[in-house]
Amino acid sequence: MPTGKLRGHFGIYLLVGISNCCWTLVCGQLSYSVSEEVNPGTSVGNLAKDLNLNVHDLETRAFQLVSGSKRIYFDINLKTGSLYVSERIDREELCAKAATCSVNIEAVINSPLKLYRLEINILDINDNSPYFPEKLQTINIAESTAPGGKFGLIGALDVDVGKNSVSTYKLSSNEYFSLEIHKGGDSASAELVLQKGLDREKHPNIKLTLTAVDGGNPPRSGTSEIIVNVLDNNDNAPLFSSSLYKASISENVPKGNTVIVLTAIDADEGVNAEIEYSLRSKGQDRILNLFQIDSKTGAIVVKGNIDYEENPAFEIHAQASDRGQPPMSAHCKVLVEVLDLNDNAPEITVTSLLNTVKEDASVGTAIALVSVLDRDGGKNGAVKAVIANDSPFKLETNYKNYYSLVVDGVLDRETVADYNVTIVATDEGTPSLSSTNVVHVHVSDVNDNPPRFSEQLINVYVRENSPVGENIKTVSAVDADINKNGQVSYSFLHGNNVKTPSSTMVNINSETGDIISLQSFNYEELNTFQFKVQATDSGVPPLSSNVTVNVLILDENDNSPTILAPYSELGSVNSETIPYSAEAGYFVAKIRAVDADSGYNALLSYHLTEPKGNNLFRIGTSTGEIRTKRRMSDNDLKTHPLVVLVSDNGEPSLSATVSVDVVVVESAADSHTQF
Ligand SMILES: *[C@@H]1O[C@H](CO)[C@@H](O)[C@H](O)[C@H]1NC(C)=O
Ligand SMILES: *[C@@H]1O[C@H](CO)[C@@H](O)[C@H](O)[C@H]1NC(C)=O
Repeated sequence: MPTGKLRGHFGIYLLVGISNCCWTLVCGQLSYSVSEEVNPGTSVGNLAKDLNLNVHDLETRAFQLVSGSKRIYFDINLKTGSLYVSERIDREELCAKAATCSVNIEAVINSPLKLYRLEINILDINDNSPYFPEKLQTINIAESTAPGGKFGLIGALDVDVGKNSVSTYKLSSNEYFSLEIHKGGDSASAELVLQKGLDREKHPNIKLTLTAVDGGNPPRSGTSEIIVNVLDNNDNAPLFSSSLYKASISENVPKGNTVIVLTAIDADEGVNAEIEYSLRSKGQDRILNLFQIDSKTGAIVVKGNIDYEENPAFEIHAQASDRGQPPMSAHCKVLVEVLDLNDNAPEITVTSLLNTVKEDASVGTAIALVSVLDRDGGKNGAVKAVIANDSPFKLETNYKNYYSLVVDGVLDRETVADYNVTIVATDEGTPSLSSTNVVHVHVSDVNDNPPRFSEQLINVYVRENSPVGENIKTVSAVDADINKNGQVSYSFLHGNNVKTPSSTMVNINSETGDIISLQSFNYEELNTFQFKVQATDSGVPPLSSNVTVNVLILDENDNSPTILAPYSELGSVNSETIPYSAEAGYFVAKIRAVDADSGYNALLSYHLTEPKGNNLFRIGTSTGEIRTKRRMSDNDLKTHPLVVLVSDNGEPSLSATVSVDVVVVESAADSHTQF
């Protein structure tokens, strides 16, 4: 197969510029063209220059090319910004018979993220010459054939497309035949047309050269020899009812289905008119795998799997031969169009741009590129992709079937840390086919939650005299963030209008929040104090909150009542005089006492404990006033040593005693002179 390349004949052009400003994520489209079959390494353009990017940024901002299809064919040199061909591109393989052939690539650059579309048109080059599967064709023609008789020729093949495929034929100059050219299908075909009567006695055989020429610039060509044998037995060649047949079949038709029935007739009789149909055996291997012809009926039937996506059309070369000696034959071409069925579901390809998305990511942040391919044609291949489940993401159309998965709402890791975003792509076939792809999006933490105390004010009750080093309270704040952002430490809060506890009172464990007493508290000196504890996380920047701690010392009954002057405690002598004539209820003295404790611990009561069996004096339990119960009599003693017990209401109760000697005198005046 001649595949000599016209080196140095390909062109590379920059066709379209990009829009100047890039306010949106997708920043316009660059379009390049490159010929097929160029050497890997061939430069297509300079992306850095064309995208107005600093070439040094390409590496640091992780410039990359992504494509929905498996092969990209292109790569970028991050040092120079040059976009180059990375592997051999065969236009015929990539786009089959399509009139235009392009490769779509997206280019992505980070910080800030931008997307660019690249469209690279693959230009066909005339790199293949037409060639004949049969180097020599033999045609048997009866001597009696009238001028105007037509004889189909086996055509040439050319793997190039469009104007680079076979466009015409030429015949070497001769006196008997001209050519009739038929355009139709991918390439032209030709028939010999007899111009004047043959004379076997003069020319038993005629040698001709058939040249197939393609429409490339410059054109390429291939040749085949034709030997025309002139027969003298008045035999006629078979004649097809048409030199070009057209038929259509659905893809996936069952094996054995008839595509078309060819008919050829032969004007002779007997075996000379018995026609055998066959498919050309050379140069159409694929056809022979998929179709066969009934040699008797001329019915072409399907014998393989017809797949529109592999072959949207076929060109079948058939022949009809009679059984004369020598046989004579005719050729024809059948164009078979394959009708697409919706037998391919869309294929979704996801290229992740971010491993995780920060919870403070703004709306529009791109997470992944999604491309959807459907191998069917027309409506069967027209696809639409949507997000099926409820999520704060959406698909933005970039270009054709290329989408960006972008943030479309508020993310909060503390609420939802992981999303399974279900992308459904559906084609427009009837019935339509769809496929799904689940993109897992992980939301990463940002320090957006301060530690929180469950209350704003904490009351801590501490018994007075409790031991030094006691854990009086553990404060705890919860931070909804994770890792460093949620790691909380505790300290006393210092600052304006904030009282810091004296370093001798309490300490705080920064890790556990345990508040430890550094002293044993004395309620009578200090019954309450307040401070603030701050909880701070380890995020950058850190966040904090504070709580007010009220420490309330609980009183213990650790103070006995104290007798106030002029009396003093037991052991010293206190005395009072009363006149002999004193009436019942006479005021003798008032004992006063205080208690440093508080509450019941300081609630005092007074009792006379000595002398036992006394019936002359009484004391007010709460007032401490000592009064006589009755008038004196001569039988009464002149001196009465009284003992008063003052006790508090604590548990257990503490008390003090005081003794008062009461001396009875004759008159008030006397009593005064006695002391
Ligand atoms: C996402 O899908 C994976 C795999 O099916 C599953 O293990 C995970 O629990 C899903 N996560 C959510 C948030 O639904
Ligand atoms: C303590 O927290 C309150 C709110 O809880 C805040 O208003 C105040 O500014 C904080 N104080 C300090 C000193 O940080």
